[in-house]
Formats: sequence, C-alpha cells, structure tokens
Amino acid sequence: MKYAEIEWRDGQPYSPDYEDIYYSAAGGREESEYVFLKHNQLASRWQALASGEQFVVAETGFGTGLNFVLSMQAWAKQADPEACLHYIAIEKHPVSPVDIKRVASNWPALLEAYDELLSVYPLPVEGEHVRTLMGGRVHLHLVFADVVEALESRELQADAWYLDGFDPDRNADLWNDRVFSLIEKNSGQGASLSSYTAAGFVRRGLQAVGFEVEKVKGHGKKREMITAVLTDKKQRQSKTPWYVLDKTKYQGKTAVVIGAGLVGLTTAWSLVQRGWKVSLIEKHKHVAEEASGNPAGLLMPRLSLDNKNDAQFYCNALSYASHSLDHLQKNDEEKFWFHDGVYSIFKKGKAEKLINKHGYPEQFMTILGEHELQPYLSGQDITVTFFPEAGWASPRKICEALVRACGPSLQLINKNVDDICKVDNQWQAVGKNGQSIAAAEVLIVANGVGVNQFNATSWLPLSSVRGQLTEIPVSESSLTLNKAVSFDAYVTPEYNGMHYAGATYRVGDDNPEMTQAEQDETMAHIEQCLPGIYKKPERLSGRVGFRPVSDDMTPVVGAMPDKVAFSEDYKELHHGRPRTEYPQARHLSGLYVNAGHGSRGICSSFLSAEILVAMIVNEPLPVSKEVADYLNPARFLMRKLKRAQSLD
Ligand SMILES: Cc1cc2nc3c(=O)[nH]c(=O)nc-3n(C[C@H](O)[C@H](O)[C@H](O)COP(=O)(O)OP(=O)(O)OC[C@H]3O[C@@H](n4cnc5c(N)ncnc54)[C@H](O)[C@@H]3O)c2cc1C
Ligand SMILES: C[S@@+](CC[C@H](N)C(=O)[O-])C[C@H]1O[C@@H](n2cnc3c(N)ncnc32)[C@H](O)[C@@H]1O
Repeated sequence: MKYAEIEWRDGQPYSPDYEDIYYSAAGGREESEYVFLKHNQLASRWQALASGEQFVVAETGFGTGLNFVLSMQAWAKQADPEACLHYIAIEKHPVSPVDIKRVASNWPALLEAYDELLSVYPLPVEGEHVRTLMGGRVHLHLVFADVVEALESRELQADAWYLDGFDPDRNADLWNDRVFSLIEKNSGQGASLSSYTAAGFVRRGLQAVGFEVEKVKGHGKKREMITAVLTDKKQRQSKTPWYVLDKTKYQGKTAVVIGAGLVGLTTAWSLVQRGWKVSLIEKHKHVAEEASGNPAGLLMPRLSLDNKNDAQFYCNALSYASHSLDHLQKNDEEKFWFHDGVYSIFKKGKAEKLINKHGYPEQFMTILGEHELQPYLSGQDITVTFFPEAGWASPRKICEALVRACGPSLQLINKNVDDICKVDNQWQAVGKNGQSIAAAEVLIVANGVGVNQFNATSWLPLSSVRGQLTEIPVSESSLTLNKAVSFDAYVTPEYNGMHYAGATYRVGDDNPEMTQAEQDETMAHIEQCLPGIYKKPERLSGRVGFRPVSDDMTPVVGAMPDKVAFSEDYKELHHGRPRTEYPQARHLSGLYVNAGHGSRGICSSFLSAEILVAMIVNEPLPVSKEVADYLNPARFLMRKLKRAQSLD
C-alpha cells in the first residue's frame, strides 16, 4: 500500500489520479459540517444518548480526516462523556501524515484535534487500525482497504453514513450497486446517510437497497445533495452460522477473568476502559509469574506468506499493540517499552516475497542495504530488514503497568481456580472444597497453559510448549548494538546489564529447570547468525516458561461454543445441505476464552483483548469478520464436524 499522491492547488489537496478535490476549496469545513453532521441530525441524536451508549458512524473515503476531526470535536461537545463514538472510516489510498498536517494548518481551530489524530495515525498497511482518542470516548477504526473488500468482510450496524468518495463520475469503484448493497448490509434499521452528491444513479441505487432518499438543498451555491434513512433492512442468513457471534446483552458491568499474565491483564484493561469492574484471579502471589514473567522479549508480528488471515491479524496486532504500549508507557514512570524498531534477518528471497505478496510499505518493512550489522554478517546468504513499528519490551513490567492502569476497577484475588460452573445465570470460579472465589455473568478463561483444565473448556486443543530464555552479560561489542535483532531466534539490546536471547521450543517437555544444553544451543545459534558480537555466558542464567499453544498454532479468542449443541446442530454438515439452512451457533452464554498466544503474546494479546471485549459489549469488532472467525474457538469443532468426526 502506498500513500495517496497529492497535488497542492492554491494550498488545497487535489488527487491527480481521480482528478478531483478532497473537499471544497471554498468553505470545505462548513460544507462538511453541513452535509455530513447536520444532515445526519447528529447534534440531536448525540445529545439524546445516555451514559454508556455507543454510536457508529461509517465513512467511505477517510481522505484527509476532515470529517473525522469535525465529528470528534462535535462529539466532545454534544455526547455524554461516558458514551462512545465508533468511527469506521474506509480508505484505499491513505493520505500521508505530512499531507494531513498541511491540511490541518488551514484550520487553526481544528489543530488540536488534528494533532491528536496525527499522534496515533497508522502506517499505510492494509487492514484495520483501531485507535482510541479523547481518553477512550472515540474509537477510530481506520480500515485501509478497497471499500468493497472492507464492507464485505464486516458486519457493522452503522447508525449514520458519510458517503464521501470522489465525484461519482470519476470514482466508479466507490459508487455502484454492489457498494450500496454492502452499505445496507452494514447498517442498522433506521440508519441515516448523507452525501454531497445527488447523482441520479446514486439515489436510485440507494432506494433499491431499502433507503428512503430525499434531495435537499446543497451547501452554499450547490443546488442539491441527498439524505436517506434505511427503512427496509433485509434479514440475511449467515453462510457460516456456526461463527455467528453471541449477542447477549449483560445486565451489569462486572466480569471474572482467570489468569494474570499478559492475556488476562490486557483483557481486564479492555473491560476496565469500558467502565467494567473485574475480579482477576491468579494462583500466584504476583502477576506475571508464568510465561509472561520474562524480563524482556520482542514485539514482532508473525509474517505469513500464504495465510491471509494470519498475516492480517498479526500486522494489525502489531499496529494496535504498539499504539497501546505507547499509551501505557506515556502514563507510567517505569520504563518497559522500547519503540525502537527491530532488525529482522531472512534467508535470501523470503523478505522480497513477503513485500511483494502483501505490498508492505517501507515504513513497515524495509530491506536494508547499509546497516550496523553488516560487519558481522559477511558471506551469509541473507537479507536484513528493519521494522520501525516493532520494538522490545518487558512483558513482566507490562503486566505490572496494566494493573496500575486498571486502578481500583481491578480486584486481584490470589487463589487457584479448580473449576468453573454456572449457577443462576452467574459463572462461578470455584476453589478448593468447592467454595466460590468470585462470580459474575461474564467469565473469561485466560489462564495460559491451564485454559483447558476446567470441565467446560476441557475439549480445547491447547498444550504447553517449554521455552528457555538466555541471559547474556554485556560486552564491548554487544553494547554497540542498540536495537533488537530477530532471526529464527532473537536478542534484545542491553537491559539491566544483560541481553535477553530466546527462545528454545520444546514440545512435550515439562522440565521447569534451565538446562546447559539448551543454553549452549541458543548461544551456538546466535554465534552462527551474528558471529563475534555476544560473549558466551559463564554460568547457566535465564528463565524457563511454558507457552500456551493451540493445535493450529493460532490464538483462541471468542465466546465458548456449546459443544453438545454443536454436535447436534451441525452433525449433518458433511452431507452438503446449504449452509444457510443450519441454525446459529449456540454458546455457553457468558463464558469466553482468550488463550493460545504461543510465541507472540506481546504482539497478539492487546488486539485479542479488544476483539473479545468488543464481542462481550456488542461493539464493532476491531478486525474483519474473517479474522475474528480465524480466531474463533468453534473452528476446532467445525473442522471435525466437516470431516464427520465425533466431537467426543
Ligand atoms: C521463553 C519464552 C520466550 C518468549 N518470548 C516472547 C517474545 O519475545 N515475544 C512475544 O511476543 N512472546 C514471547 N513469548 C510468549 C509469551 O510470553 C506468551 O505468549 C504470553 O506470555 C502468554 O501469556 P498468557 O497470559 O496467556 O499466559 P501466562 O503468562 O502463563 O499467564 C497465565 C496465568 O494464569 C495463571 N493460572 C493458570 N491456571 C490458573 C488457575 N487454575 N487459577 C488461577 N490462576 C491460574 C498462571 O499462574 C499465570 O499467571 C515467550 C515465551 C517464552 C516461554
Ligand atoms: C473526497 S475524498 C474524501 C475526503 C474525506 N472524507 C476528508 O474528510 O478529507 C475521497 C476519498 O475516497 C477514497 N477512495 C476512492 N476510491 C476508493 C475505494 N474504492 N475504496 C476506498 N476508498 C476510496 C480516496 O482515496 C479519497 O481519500
């Protein structure tokens, strides 16, 4: 993906590709307010919202962010401070931050809002980038994709639409019947819509999919524009009913989370940010005593060449994790996050293939010609790349910072959970002798390798993979490297007088002690890839941890399926009946799982927590539906049912 090409004409942005302006040169701001905010009646609708309610705006064509910034400002004035605006903006050619800054300079009154946008503006990487602004009152979902792809893979219930593509005559891929039908699919009944255009085919197209369209006076000298309301929302049958999300509306805002590692704590934080109270149960005295207790590790995405959902999930997870860590770090005195980029070494050819396949821009992944590793790597058949958005962090300290960020809304209970059960609509975490430790309508199982130790979760195919981290004392040569390096292992820069190198990967090994053999293996590997930089440690020193890994090596995030109901409802799946004829998925209502983050938990936990919590509170998901399905715990059951295998 590349930034949009912009020409500046009299200080205003112009697209040479579409031969059109981004907004009206005369009174662009007033026109935006008139067309989109006023004609969606947003002031009165936002003032009527109660505390805790949400409103979803969807925009086709984010462009310079003018409509967004105006909406954010109006929201600040008009909506209840405890209400949340989800602003879903779709953009195929992101405008660069440099160009946005130039636009912002036109409007001093908008500078502050533009600065906030620019401080979190993502790289031009395909997919969804979620950003929280105004202290959580606004969630911007920037979907960098073609409008059809973006809307096909979403299930929004938008309340209002801003249709703001370029002139319909010059931007046919944004204004056509397919797009109109997808707009209807992603709207709630009664959704409103407005656009500066009153082109006949746009009006007829919107009418044909169920909108009541009205022509009204355009802004300034313009004769006409349109507004519309969806009066005829169609019912659709899902083609994958087994992945239909549970839409339970919970009475209170309290939850129990089991496990105080990265995954449990990011989940708790996502809930707390939405005004929930969380009882977090941890068997150890402190948080981050197990896999998440490492002093340092890398924030790097898994880079898949052929698995689109995997590549999408991890790239968006990197974007969201670094945004979240920046925010956490800014509000915390303890240093735990180093947003310095990562050198990543690939066998010759692989990096080029990744870039070609996914169109990664150089701001995300750059192949380096000159670099500081060069003197150490001569003669190797490799490519050195740099990932500026990546970095390294202390997972243990992230967990501690998350506890501080949650504040009094988080209650940490140091008990071992023996089982979970549902009594009178409440999920209970049960301890020794069957006594209840905590109970709530919502319970999230996030206890790492222990996730399938309970009756209700026992079928989840997750296991534990041992890993050993090695501590390497600093030396003169190692101190010259101040960035983390990843190859099929990794080494961090100096941290508390050490480098941290990892990690071994031992399936089926439950030895909790460090071994010299593994330390030697790690050091030999480092010496082979980065010869002459790191000194061999004189003693055995490091840490052992157990990664929670699922059978398909992918995180498991979502509502807990009712296995008995699945085996009944979908037992005939292999017969080939149309998929839409099957009933919707049945879940163990109120029970959720977030686990299986394997070797990339620092990267995947923040976004996974947001996905899960969006499902619990019925917000727009921060990823495409395909990605959410990719993580859905029901996938394991469906794979068996499709092969006519028993679920027992
Ligand atoms: C050696 C090593 C190196 C790694 N390096 C990296 C890296 O560089 N980058 C990266 O992204 N990832 C890395 N990882 C992976 C990362 O650490 C994990 O993905 C992540 O920590 C998993 O977090 P979690 O919360 O699921 O599990 P955990 O941190 O294990 O947390 C689960 C918690 O649940 C608690 N618990 C379990 N059962 C119960 C119960 N019944 N009752 C109460 N509490 C319970 C446990 O005590 C524990 O605190 C590494 C892992 C290892 C082992
Ligand atoms: C008129 S501009 C939008 C102005 C914007 N709303 C603002 O506030 O600055 C139209 C936008 O639509 C985007 N666009 C055009 N075709 C698209 C497509 N097929 N999918 C997604 N976005 C598209 C363009 O890149 C451009 O940024």
